[in-house]
Amino acid sequence: MLTGKEIKDRIINFKHARKAVILAHNYQLMEVQHIADYCGDSLELARLASQLDQEMIVFCGVRFMAETAKLLNPQAKVLLPVKEAGCPMAGMITADQLLEFKSGYEAPWVVCYVNSSIEVKAESDICCTSGNVLDVISSIPIDKQILFVPDRNLGSYAARMTGRSIILWEGYCNVHENISVIDVERAKMKYPGYSLAVHPECRPEVLEMADIIASTRGLADFVAMHDKVIIGTELGLLHQLQEEYPDKKLAALSEKALCVNMKRTTVTDVLRAFKNEEYEVTISEEVASRALKAVERMLRI
Ligand code: 13P
Ligand code: SF4
Repeated sequence: MLTGKEIKDRIINFKHARKAVILAHNYQLMEVQHIADYCGDSLELARLASQLDQEMIVFCGVRFMAETAKLLNPQAKVLLPVKEAGCPMAGMITADQLLEFKSGYEAPWVVCYVNSSIEVKAESDICCTSGNVLDVISSIPIDKQILFVPDRNLGSYAARMTGRSIILWEGYCNVHENISVIDVERAKMKYPGYSLAVHPECRPEVLEMADIIASTRGLADFVAMHDKVIIGTELGLLHQLQEEYPDKKLAALSEKALCVNMKRTTVTDVLRAFKNEEYEVTISEEVASRALKAVERMLRI
């Protein structure tokens, strides 16, 4: 059995030998965040992936993130260390369902949240993340009917903030959907004087009670400027911020906010991924060229 230090040393050796880079989402286990070259939100990691010139990207996150990295950097070998690490929300709409949804409207604009399959991206006009959703919606010509998939909470938040009428697909993230108004009331009572910072995948009634609504990067930036914050998103971000700011008073809005898929990847998985060069992410060329249009249109904004 290898010690933590031995695992880390071997990962570093592999990283140099394979000319690789390790990217990790903000929800990953701290042991994984510690060995990553970069941690970030979906938008930051996608942008970064498009700019890297390493030969291999080991993506510690969920499948749609690794797929987006492969889409934006097709020359790199992209590995997802745990092949079952998926986002259940991304599975809430298929390309066929989207085609049927679209067929009910005349020349609609489809905005797909990056938490979606590559096939759904291929049938969409533009992609968005929680970090740029308002800019993406505002960029759409005013006379266009907007369809938003798959996250109804992010879509309805964008509709309220931009004043645009948006037709929503009924998908959601079970981790954020489970955070309730009762959780907010309890946390506000327990932590008086704290600000409330939440992710836009939360229910509208929870968002209404927040001081700031932002992507995981936006929430981290808010914490950098405030000393007492209740954080309403997956617990990984809180763990990262508690380590970064040991003197700040930070609390979880819900202790149940745990994404099992984000927590599947361990450092042992990363080491195995390097050793066996698994699991390589591949995308069919035909689907990739159409999906890339929607993602590149987003990145130009
Ligand atoms: P961010 O893009 O805000 O990091 O969110 C990704 C995600 O999956 C939220 O549940
Ligand atoms: Fe998907 Fe929710 Fe997990 Fe984010 S937290 S990866 S949206 S299941």
